[in-house]
Amino acid sequence: MTAMNTKRLTIDDIAQGAAVIAAGGLLGIPTETVYGLGANGLDPNAVHAIFAAKGRPQDNPLILHIPDESWLERYCADIPQTAYTLAERFWPGPLTIILKRKPNVPDAVTAGLDTVGMRCPDCAVTRSIIAAADVPVAAPSGNTSGRPSPTTAAAMLEDMDGKIDAIVDAGPCAVGVESTIVDLTATPPRLLRPGGVTLEQLREVLGEVSVDEAVTRLMSTNEKPRAPGMKYRHYAPKAPVTVVNGEPEAAAQYIAAHLEPDDGVICFDNYVNLFKGRPTESIGPKDDREAHARRIFEALRAFDHKDVRRIWAQSPDAHGLGLAVTNRLNKAAGFHIIQL
Ligand code: TXA
Ligand code: MG
Repeated sequence: MTAMNTKRLTIDDIAQGAAVIAAGGLLGIPTETVYGLGANGLDPNAVHAIFAAKGRPQDNPLILHIPDESWLERYCADIPQTAYTLAERFWPGPLTIILKRKPNVPDAVTAGLDTVGMRCPDCAVTRSIIAAADVPVAAPSGNTSGRPSPTTAAAMLEDMDGKIDAIVDAGPCAVGVESTIVDLTATPPRLLRPGGVTLEQLREVLGEVSVDEAVTRLMSTNEKPRAPGMKYRHYAPKAPVTVVNGEPEAAAQYIAAHLEPDDGVICFDNYVNLFKGRPTESIGPKDDREAHARRIFEALRAFDHKDVRRIWAQSPDAHGLGLAVTNRLNKAAGFHIIQL
């Protein structure tokens, strides 16, 4: 791939953004969850360029971004009423719905699966760009494969400067962890990835929802999780991560007692005093799950600019948004977890 000059666009540059997509180029797009690496989802060459820029394994499908639910029937077949109920309640917003695909969705997007993930992001500039281009935008998170997802344009440019045509800077992402993925082709509906819409919220609307095993445990390399991406080591900084699970004060004390010189810490704001003089990233007050979600990827990324031997992290419990935050931390740690 030849290096290109990545243009910086603003939220006013809708026509320029749409032109990049229409020309088969790669565009960094803001969303409420994380920045995405977007391209025309109907153009297999453009989609292949996404995989090349990220270094993403070919068997890991992409999701399609659309400006509203009326586009579902363009690309999906056998759409159940529950899809519209979810869209009505949560779109635009951090929810991806897995549905049967129509034949016009290229294999390059779905990695050959007969289903496709559909998402309508809560970001006006990105919806306007998609509508102006009049094609669905395939977009994974805008990180190099394996690294933490980017929640600012600067973080995405760390990985993608010179590899994409342009990026639209709309400031930091409001949610900070990726969308929730729910598979409506399964009975009962199945949570494949926890995210900005909580499992509790999904159950309010859908009733029973099962949780895929890949959400809470490490899948071995010969297993086939339903969201192919869940099997890869992910979100990981260079230094190994150890998650300490338990009552927040006790977890912080455990880390303080086991910390060695050159170790870094991810902790709640309440406990920063225990780690004075150490490389520390705080992720918000202990009960502020929204803050943990907004801060977690920047905290993981920050350690790649610091010289640490390993990283200790405390993590919220699995309620509400905590399920998504603990999932990302546990995966960053390769499920190396100390349970107090
Ligand atoms: O919030 C988000 O969803 C962000 C922003 C940019 O929209 N995108 C994102 O995409 O997180 P990505 O590619 O990093 O993660 C998508 C996940 C992967 O784990 C992939 O395996 C899974 O969705 N996936 C995609 N299509 C699927 C399908 N048809 N069936 C099951 N899993 C699917
Ligand atoms: Mg990703």
